[in-house]
Amino acid sequence: MNGTPYTGTGTVTVTLDGTNQTATLPLAAGTIGPSVADIRKLYSDLGIFTFDPGYGGTAACESKITYIDGDAGVLLYRGYPIEQLAEHSNFLEVAYLLLNGELPDAAQMAEFDRGVLRHTMLHEQLRSFFNGFRRDAHPMAVLCGVVGAMSAFYHDSLDINDPDHRRISAFRLIAKVPTIAAWAYKYAIGQPFVYPRNSLGYAENLLYMMHAVPAEEYHVNPVLARALDLILVLHADHEQNASTSTVRLAGSTGANPFACIAAGIASLWGPAHGGANEAVLKMLAEIGHARHIPEFIEKVKDKNSNVRLMGFGHRVYKNYDPRAKIMQHTCHEVLRELGIKDDPLLDLAVELEHVALHDDYFVSRKLYPNVDFYSGIILKAMGFPTSMFTVLFAVARTVGWVSQWMEMVEDPSQRIGRPRQLYTGAPQRDYRPLDARG
Ligand code: ACO
Repeated sequence: MNGTPYTGTGTVTVTLDGTNQTATLPLAAGTIGPSVADIRKLYSDLGIFTFDPGYGGTAACESKITYIDGDAGVLLYRGYPIEQLAEHSNFLEVAYLLLNGELPDAAQMAEFDRGVLRHTMLHEQLRSFFNGFRRDAHPMAVLCGVVGAMSAFYHDSLDINDPDHRRISAFRLIAKVPTIAAWAYKYAIGQPFVYPRNSLGYAENLLYMMHAVPAEEYHVNPVLARALDLILVLHADHEQNASTSTVRLAGSTGANPFACIAAGIASLWGPAHGGANEAVLKMLAEIGHARHIPEFIEKVKDKNSNVRLMGFGHRVYKNYDPRAKIMQHTCHEVLRELGIKDDPLLDLAVELEHVALHDDYFVSRKLYPNVDFYSGIILKAMGFPTSMFTVLFAVARTVGWVSQWMEMVEDPSQRIGRPRQLYTGAPQRDYRPLDARG
């Protein structure tokens, strides 16, 4: 659709019952996946809106970045299956792919690596910004605030109509968000901020900034760095999810990229989205022991309890989340590397998954483990506190948000996002003075 007329594949005709009014809606086909009915003229032709709370049946934009087949459990970045990227690629190569559409050659990759790794330091004045937060602030609150504040520090890359500004902002965000994330953690635990080291890889640097202290040598464990890099790859993008749609909606007004990504971070925070990895660990701790699983499952199935099996279910996947499979495998690898033979949390998670996958409640609703079911266990074993889990998700997803924001800004058909509503409030009525009411 991108401004130029798309190739139609047919039409859908909508007739308003009891009238002879009809609207003929063009159908457009993507490369793969279901076709979409272009409803843009429905209101002008028939005077009606469509109603789709939660957007379960609405394509809000055209995109070439990520494809999901939720029934088959398929996830593709720019056409490449997530399993292949997880096995053979790395986070910065995936970042290049998401941003540019193609895998880089060696020279392009080296230039991209340099571009990202050269921007890892923060403006020194941003450092004092952290002191304004309470020490016990959630690091997501700090991340959201400091990323939003970047627009007050990097004035030279705020013109969204200038491709160079967009490119520099993209590098700055991808490079600096890990530094902000690590410093949010250091601030919370009262340790000195550790400056980035550009000789380290992306995930290595993040581990270094989080876990090193000036008083001691710190050597990054390559197995853990690879595992973290893999987690970043798996979380890098995921089509038009809540936080990405938030970034696009904020961006559709012409807001600067730092403000848009801060909006995405806020949206990611909720337990139904990126906050689920933290919620999974809280849930496992609450269950405590495998013998309590049946009782917990009963609570989940009780509609009045409001308890959900965290890390299970997904708006799009009605099959095993392909990322969850990879995550489960990595979980075992990381625990082995760390010499953890029996992790009670992992044992509990495996048992819980087994019970749920054989329970008709979950089977009939097609509820399977999602990416967050195992990620928390890995991150905990790697020494990250639970409050940092969603922050690490945000670090990875920044690349997806930036890619989607870029695509949107470059789309000539882009308009401000402005949904309509089904109004069910009071009809028009006249104001009555206070003494005339009651
Ligand atoms: N536990 C128990 N029941 C569930 C769960 C769950 N985790 N997820 C869905 N259901 C049930 C619902 O109660 C509903 O049952 P009903 O038909 O009897 O009313 C049915 O399954 C459909 O659920 P919806 O809420 O309509 O599914 P929706 O697509 O809106 O929600 C969501 C998806 C938010 C992810 C949901 O599955 C959930 O809350 N999961 C737990 C939180 C979680 O793990 N989030 C991470 C998502 S992945 C990510 O953001 C990286």
